[in-house]
Amino acid sequence: MSNEKNTDFDFSKIDEILERHEPTAVIAILQDIQEIYRYLPPQIFPYLAKKLNTSEARIYSVATFYENFSLEPKGKYVIKVCDGTACHVRKSIPILTYLRDELGLNESKHTTDDLTFTLETVSCLGACGLAPVLTVNDVVHPEMTPDKAAALLKELKEEK
Ligand code: FES
Repeated sequence: MSNEKNTDFDFSKIDEILERHEPTAVIAILQDIQEIYRYLPPQIFPYLAKKLNTSEARIYSVATFYENFSLEPKGKYVIKVCDGTACHVRKSIPILTYLRDELGLNESKHTTDDLTFTLETVSCLGACGLAPVLTVNDVVHPEMTPDKAAALLKELKEEK
């Protein structure tokens, strides 16, 4: 990591988070950091290691063990399309395909270059009665179709 990158990064927010937690509460610290940045920026690993008096490898292993932590930047709007059984049989795939095509994303590219949208799939959002379901930043949108997804996308783009 270059020094330049480190100088650019504002560690004061990380310090505020560290003040709120015990040094052993690595998961809670990472959760708070992710809440601010929507992912875990690479700069935080050496910084936390020093501040928490532990190794970068240990913090990294916690970050990679829990699938809720992301090491990649996420968009302002995180769209999760459910592809659990109930949603799948009610045609979640055409919705996913529509969104991927529209946003220029695919199975390996999940986030638009302008960091506006991240598109992910999940295995069940716990709202099977409303299938097919997607969420935008954890807000549930029930009984979706590609047309409804198009209207939603338009709304989000206008909001942005
Ligand atoms: S399978 Fe989609 S909400 Fe449960």
